[in-house]
Order: sequence, then C-alpha cells, then structure tokens
Amino acid sequence: MAKLADIKAPIREEMQRFEPKFKMHLSSKVPLVDRVMGYMVKRKGKQMRPILVFLSAKLLGEVNESTYRGASLIELMHTATLVHDDVVDDSDMRRGFFSINALWKNKVAVLIGDYLLSRVLLLAVETKEYALLEHVSGAVKAMSEGELLQIEKARKLDITEAVYYDVIQQKTASLIETCCVVGASSVGADEVSVSNLREIGRHLGLAFQIKDDLFDFEKVNLTGKPAGIDIKEQKMTLPLIHALKEAAPKQRKYIIKTIKKHHDRPKKVQEVVDFVRHSGGLDYARSRMEQHIIKAKELLFTFPKSDVRDSFESLLEFTVARKK
Ligand code: IPE
Ligand code: IPE
Ligand code: MG
Ligand code: MG
Repeated sequence: MAKLADIKAPIREEMQRFEPKFKMHLSSKVPLVDRVMGYMVKRKGKQMRPILVFLSAKLLGEVNESTYRGASLIELMHTATLVHDDVVDDSDMRRGFFSINALWKNKVAVLIGDYLLSRVLLLAVETKEYALLEHVSGAVKAMSEGELLQIEKARKLDITEAVYYDVIQQKTASLIETCCVVGASSVGADEVSVSNLREIGRHLGLAFQIKDDLFDFEKVNLTGKPAGIDIKEQKMTLPLIHALKEAAPKQRKYIIKTIKKHHDRPKKVQEVVDFVRHSGGLDYARSRMEQHIIKAKELLFTFPKSDVRDSFESLLEFTVARKK
C-alpha cells in the first residue's frame, strides 16, 4: 500500500508551506481558545483534504495563493465539523486522543466549532474569495443536511441502501468533491476538467465514508476513534443495512430491537457487530467501496499521465487500504 508520505511527494513543498499558513488561522487572544487550538494542532489528522486540493490544482496548473487559501478554508471547515461531530456522536476519542468535548465538555466544543466556522468566513471575506466561499458553504449545507437525515433515520431504524447513499453523499462526499473543484478552479481549469474532477472526488468521498463505516466493525481499530460507536449511536451504515436486508425476518426483528433498546450496552453492541461480521455485510460494503475507486480511476485516466496523476491514483488506493 502506498504511504501518505509517498503520495505527498509531488506536493511536498506545497504541504510544507501550507502548515504555518493553516496554523495562523487558529490563533486567538482568548487563553482558553488558544489552549484548545494548541491541543488540536498537535493532533493533526491525515490532511487528506488539503492533499486533494493541491493534487487537483497541480494536475491541471500551477499552485498559487488561491490554492493555499482553498486548502486552509477546507481544512478549517473540516476541523470545525469534527469538533461538532464528536458532540453530536457523544464520542470521547478523536485522532487517538481525547476529543474536545471529552476534555472541555460540550459547551466549549460547540463554541470552538463556531469559532472555527467564523474564521472560515473571515478568511474568505478578507481575501475576497467569494467563489471559494460559495463552494465551501454549499458543501457545509449538504453536510448538515446529511447529518440530520442520518439522525432522522436513526430514530426509525428504517434506512435503505439508497438513503444511506444520500446521507454519505451529503455528509462526506460533498466536501471531498469540493476539494477537487476548489483545487482545479484555483488554477483556472476548464469546465470539463473541473466537472471530471468533481466526479472523481465524489466517488472518492463515497468510498472514504464506506471505509470509515467499516472501521466501526473492526476488531483492532487504529483510527483513534472508538469502535462500535455507530451502533451505540444507532447509526445504520452499509454493512448493517445489507446484513439486515439479507437476514430472515425473525432475526432482523431481533437485531433491530437490540439496537433500539440496548444500544448503550457494550455486550449487546458486540452482538450486533458479530451478526454483521457473520452475514457478509462487510464483504458487500468492501465491494461497493472498490467499485467507487474503479470509477474514480477511470475518470482520472482521462488526464495525461504525470507524477501528480500517479500520486492521485495512489491516494485513491490508499483510501480503501488505509488502516486509519
Ligand atoms: C473524518 O475524516 C470524518 C469523515 C468524513 C469520516 P478524516 O478521517 O479525514 O479525519 P482526519 O482529519 O484524518 O482526522
Ligand atoms: C462523518 O461521519 C462526520 C462528518 C462528516 C463531520 P462520522 O461521524 O462517521 O465521522 P467520524 O467517524 O466520527 O470521524
Ligand atoms: Mg462521528
Ligand atoms: Mg465514523
């Protein structure tokens, strides 16, 4: 499997220059904000989204200040949504450490998320990046709708595969496709290229979330996020949806009842995890994920071969093979 470090090789300088630019947007005079931000920057994630912005830009032109602003804006936005997401999901781990809500409680986490969002808006307005702001705002709107749709469905536990796809398109793929669009637009790419890249990002985003959902069922989970938390939160993801669809009516009823009534009991959550593992739900989700990567690759190959394209291809492969 390609490592992220190798994937970054053709954009190494850009990623190095990005680092301090990104951090600059996190400073505050309020000591509490500064402390939380300091905690966050020490535990940075995979930075998949900025990587994608730079790869998309460099595939089609020269990285410029607008590309950097796009990468910062998106990573800031992503960070804000993760801080809120852990409140929403009542999750106490993120990136291998305690989440903001676990350390500082929900009040602080909600306000830190808002603060990050305000920095996104200011960055866009101060640099007059209105087109960029429009792209990112659209993605965030979709993300909130996706999360709300997911909550609505979690209440009824009646989600179908089509609805699952709606949810993950909105909550994850929309921001990931936006990375590609923002990167490509920042170098003045033509409409057809931008639209192809958007579609690549969409497939990548769908595969990325299916992979994230698969992690929840793994025995050893290196993501730094708690395993089994999706079931605890009554989140119906693809492996479970498929397993329930294939199950006999009596078993389906039993599993649904278990999730509804006993989702806060670790032993019962484990029972549901085992059911999914033994039902072929994981293999099914894996094969769907692979199909999205195949489609993304086909589209990627419409661009001329280069170092950057090779890296992009490795990033697609990394998404399904990653361990965290
Ligand atoms: C987590 O995204 C949120 C999802 C869309 C599943 P990442 O897995 O990219 O988070 P970090 O930034 O690397 O921690
Ligand atoms: C993705 O869903 C969340 C966002 C789009 C913010 P998850 O709730 O599955 O993300 P993780 O697994 O907590 O990172
Ligand atoms: Mg979550
Ligand atoms: Mg998850």
